[in-house]
Amino acid sequence: MAVIINIDTIGKKEIGYLSFFEMLKDFPYEIKRIYYIHHAPEGMIRGFHAHKKLKQILFCPYGEIELVLDNGFCEEKILLDSPSKAIIINEPTWREIKWMTKDSVLCVAASDYYDEEDYIRNYKDFKEYINRSS
Ligand code: TYD
Repeated sequence: MAVIINIDTIGKKEIGYLSFFEMLKDFPYEIKRIYYIHHAPEGMIRGFHAHKKLKQILFCPYGEIELVLDNGFCEEKILLDSPSKAIIINEPTWREIKWMTKDSVLCVAASDYYDEEDYIRNYKDFKEYINRSS
């Protein structure tokens, strides 16, 4: 469902680490938007939506965030617990995103500009959308 990738990381503990990924190579889409969610309290759950067309790469450079992903057929739980771990979502996927530790940061690079029309914010509508398009 979601593709888990390893973000290239260089460095050592004495000087710190640098992680990087490149558009069209590691993330096979053009990046038109970057956003991040920060200063959320521990236990917070956000998301509760899917996107019709948008492709995204999600990573957590600080802290620990759990993703519960559902593509309409099966559910998958992924823990973003390393700055070198990312997931690519490239199909309509219902997501629930939980802050396992306070102040964890969720970064997202997305293939398109913000468009509320691309959101499905109701789970029943999501299931209908998936059934219609499969
Ligand atoms: P949303 O994508 O629903 O995030 P979450 O599921 O984590 O709550 O976005 C929250 C609000 O922010 C919503 O009102 C839409 C707005 N928003 C923008 O204006 N631009 C953006 O790029 C994003 C991602 C959200």
